[in-house]
Amino acid sequence: PRIIYHNGTAEPNVVEAADGTSVMRAAVANDVPGIVGECGGQAMCATCHVYVRAEHLDLLPEMSEDEEEMLECTAAPRDEKRSRLSCQIVPGPGLDPIEVDVPADQI
Ligand code: FES
Repeated sequence: PRIIYHNGTAEPNVVEAADGTSVMRAAVANDVPGIVGECGGQAMCATCHVYVRAEHLDLLPEMSEDEEEMLECTAAPRDEKRSRLSCQIVPGPGLDPIEVDVPADQI
């Protein structure tokens, strides 16, 4: 799937990720600025916080309790609708391409 990361620069980072790869892992593997993934994808660090573009929100996986809690600890302000941990999103049908905004204070 194609993942498009907007990070405040003129050109977004566009990554072609292998099936089963989370938005966080694809970012780390391709040096996308602002997504660190410190906990390795366990929903325990919030360094992978992104704002998912509105058109994708209906198709995102349900939020786990861990993710819900971690989103209270993000460096950038939480957006009630669009904030997600990118390690919890594995793009697939309906989410290809998927576009996310990397919070400015994370970059
Ligand atoms: Fe740590 Fe996503 S990588 S919460």
